[in-house]
Amino acid sequence: MSKKNTYPSKAPREKAFLVGVEIFGEEGLLPLNDSLDELALLADTAGLEVVGEITQKLSSPNAKTFIGAGKVNELKALAEDTLSQVVIFDDELSPRHQRELEKLLGENLRLLDRTSLILDIFAQHAKTREGMLQVELAQYEYYLPRLTRAWTHLARQAGGGGGRAGGVGGVGLRGPGETQLEVDRRVIRKRISHIKDELEKVRAHRMRHRDKRKKSRMPIVALVGYTNAGKSTLLNQLAQTDVYVADQLFATLDPTTRRVDLPGGYKSLFTDTVGFIQKLPTTLVAAFRATLEEIAEADLLLHVVDISHPNALNHFEAVEETLEDIDAAHIPVLTALNKIDLLSNQETAQETLENYPRAIAVSARKKIGIPELKKLLQKSLYETYTPILVRLPYQQGNLISIFHESGQIEKIEHERGGVMIQGRLPGRLVAQFDGWEILPEDQIPEEEI
Ligand code: GTP
Repeated sequence: MSKKNTYPSKAPREKAFLVGVEIFGEEGLLPLNDSLDELALLADTAGLEVVGEITQKLSSPNAKTFIGAGKVNELKALAEDTLSQVVIFDDELSPRHQRELEKLLGENLRLLDRTSLILDIFAQHAKTREGMLQVELAQYEYYLPRLTRAWTHLARQAGGGGGRAGGVGGVGLRGPGETQLEVDRRVIRKRISHIKDELEKVRAHRMRHRDKRKKSRMPIVALVGYTNAGKSTLLNQLAQTDVYVADQLFATLDPTTRRVDLPGGYKSLFTDTVGFIQKLPTTLVAAFRATLEEIAEADLLLHVVDISHPNALNHFEAVEETLEDIDAAHIPVLTALNKIDLLSNQETAQETLENYPRAIAVSARKKIGIPELKKLLQKSLYETYTPILVRLPYQQGNLISIFHESGQIEKIEHERGGVMIQGRLPGRLVAQFDGWEILPEDQIPEEEI
């Protein structure tokens, strides 16, 4: 068969060389090699081709170059041998490390770290205006203290950011005695404050929607999980909709909310949001805080774990840490151990279940365990509800119907002029029943009801 390709050839991917460091006594969440594998996946997602890696164990990072001087020479030689154009450090480099390394690696090698790589991917994937602004802000704040040749290169590329962060080098006339770098910094600071203003406006708009949603009476379940765990696929299964799914890290960046019908005719809203990752850049957590805070307002969290991944438990812990960071650790959690179809031994899944709190094994892709998961979701949501006993006159028809639609009625008695209802309500609706409550249910003797 002829090897001639009749399709237009793909643009060659830039070659990337990875650098991983283990600091004695500072064990990361993932072992060095696994963290590098993850970095390779991130690089691939960003459109780079990984051609090699180098590691070093140190008692502390070198103040100037992060890795030792000899290692820098070795890295440069290896990167040149493999025709790499990009060098990526698995850890966040300080502005000083960046400067010194750039000097030593020379003009032909572009220097990135895990943070700038993730920022780049986020820039490619942000779709909503708020998402784009958040990423742009995080990019500028990250690059401002690091403004060097590497930045301008990145800025020109600016991933899917569509050049939003680009063009800075050429913008703004140079003032007397100002270097191009100073002009760039001035322009960026101005841009940062402009983005912040814009974000305020977009957020005010979103808050109005959020308030509406809160009043929508439906309980909210937030899907959380390590990137690529299968959250979007699971949401598609639960809601029977079409949310974008890709075998890529961070395919979902902006929150998506869908209605899901649970057994017993109960309805709920499910929100899918950005995937987590170990060493999630602080600039990004800060930039996405507002979006992530939506998670903290959920009634229940559904933590999706890719159980076929060798580091599933570490991923689980990384997500838990981020949940603490965003003050969501108090919300009840259900765990969906996903991708069980990939396990050669199904029994392992059953054994593994014991390592996770309130867990159920599913396969979103193969539709295994979905009805059971829905049942468990309904049951868990019910447990988060507040027990309440109210006496409502018929004039409060609206409250009576809220109880019927959104609460769970255990006992209802019709009296003259009204009803007495014992049951449970989603916590956020309880305040509306203020003044109609009789007593906490456990203090009411059965015969009185
Ligand atoms: P982020 O956007 O990175 O947060 O990812 P996500 O958690 O939303 O994952 P997504 O649903 O995009 O799925 C990631 C990949 O895993 C896709 O290729 C899915 O087809 C695949 N996947 C999801 N669920 C399953 C499953 O149950 N079995 C298998 N074999 N693959 C799955």
